[in-house]
Amino acid sequence: MAHRVGIIAGDGIGQEVVPEALKVVRAAGVDLDTIDYDLGGARYLRTGEVLPEAILDELRGLDAILLGAVGTPEVPPGVIERGLLLRLRFELDLYVNLRPMEGARIDCVVVRENTEGSYAGEGGALRKGTPHEVATQGSVNTRFGVERCLRFAFELAQSRPRRHLTLVHKTNVLTFAGDLWQRACDEVAAAYPDVATGYDHVDAACIHLVERPERYDVIVTDNLFGDILTDLGGAVAGGIGLAASANLNPAGTGPSLFEPVHGSAPDIAGTGRANPLAAIRSAAMMLEFLGEADAAARVTKAVAAAASLSGTTSELGDAVAERV
Ligand code: IPM
Ligand code: MN
Repeated sequence: MAHRVGIIAGDGIGQEVVPEALKVVRAAGVDLDTIDYDLGGARYLRTGEVLPEAILDELRGLDAILLGAVGTPEVPPGVIERGLLLRLRFELDLYVNLRPMEGARIDCVVVRENTEGSYAGEGGALRKGTPHEVATQGSVNTRFGVERCLRFAFELAQSRPRRHLTLVHKTNVLTFAGDLWQRACDEVAAAYPDVATGYDHVDAACIHLVERPERYDVIVTDNLFGDILTDLGGAVAGGIGLAASANLNPAGTGPSLFEPVHGSAPDIAGTGRANPLAAIRSAAMMLEFLGEADAAARVTKAVAAAASLSGTTSELGDAVAERV
C-alpha cells in the first residue's frame, strides 16, 4: 500500500528542494500517496492563518510528513517558526530530533530533545518598550521528557558499532537542568552496560566537533544545544546543504516529520542554487522510518555518489535520481 505522506514545501528554497526529494523517492520505486499542504509564510501573508486546526487533525492521520523550510523575512521572527514548525513538533509529540552528521572526519548522530527546554516557550515580557522592560525566557526540563530522549539515544548507541554516547550540556552553569539531565543519564546508563558514556560541556563540544569530531558517536543533548551543535556539526560534515533531520515519534502512534536542517534561505531562493541533497537525505530517513530500508539505502548511496557534483537544484536532483 502507498504511504500517505503530507508535503509541506513551505517557504523560500523549501519550494525548490522538496520536488527534488520526491523525484528521487519516485526513482527509487517507492509508492507515495502525497498530499500537498500550503503552509508557511506565504499562506500567512495571504490569509493570516499559520496552522488551521483542521489541517493539524488531517496531518495526525498520515504516515509521515516531509517539510522543506518555513519562515520568511516579511513575517516577524517566531510567528511561522513557533506557530507552525514547533507547533507540529509539540502537537505530534515528535520528541526526538535525529540529526546524523557524516563526513570524511565525522560519523556522529545527535539526538536532540525536541519538545522541551527553552523551546517550550516559558517566559514573558513586562513593561515592554519602557526603560524598565523585563523579559524572561525559561527552560522546561521534565524527568519524563528527558528520560525518554535519553532512552532513545542509548538504544541508538547500542545499535551502532562504537556503542558510545556523550551527554552534552552545561552542568557547571545550568545547575538545575544540568543536574536533572546528568542524573537521568546516569540512571538510564545503568540499563545499558555495553554502552560507554561520556560528558562534555557544550562549549567544549564545539571545539571538539571542529578539531576532533571522531570523538563522537551518539550525542544526546537538550533542544537549544542540539539546535546549535547540529548547525556546527553540519558545517563540519561537509556543509549545511547536506544536513538531514528526522523529527520522530518513536512509538509510531502518529506521523514523524522529516526536514533538512537548513532554513528557507531567502537570499538564494528562486536562483536555482539551493542544494537539494539535505532534503533528499531527509527523504531517505523518511523511507527508512516507513520500513523501506532497501530504497533508503539506495538513495543514501546515490547521494554519496552525487555529492561531489555541482549544478543547479534540479540538475543535482536528476543526478541523484539517475544513480538510484
Ligand atoms: C531547526 C531550525 C528550527 C529550530 C527553527 C526554524 C525554529 O533552526 O530545525 O534547527 O530552531 O529548531
Ligand atoms: Mn536550527
